[in-house]
Amino acid sequence: MQTAPDAATTAKISSAEHTFELILQRSQMRLPVASGESMADVLQLAGVPLETLCEQGVCGTCVTRWLDGEPDHRDSCLSAAEQATHVAVCCARCHGPPLTLDL
Ligand code: FES
Repeated sequence: MQTAPDAATTAKISSAEHTFELILQRSQMRLPVASGESMADVLQLAGVPLETLCEQGVCGTCVTRWLDGEPDHRDSCLSAAEQATHVAVCCARCHGPPLTLDL
């Protein structure tokens, strides 16, 4: 018998599937991130200089400072204190409206 997902699982699923907007504060750019895309993919396609390595939230190469919004952290390289100011853009999503990055 299949059971309904709990609230945390539901939040993760909905966060993974919705499109959200990235705002690049210093570049004055707004970029949509569709479901199935990573922020790193979108940034690189837009020509924003960004290095990635593992693309799984492990190495920390892509870690970027965020300024506003509600990141959905999915990395295993940042502490909770670090996540308060930085995000691994290869694997994180956003819980709601725009996520502003210091780029
Ligand atoms: Fe390794 Fe993002 S590329 S944490």
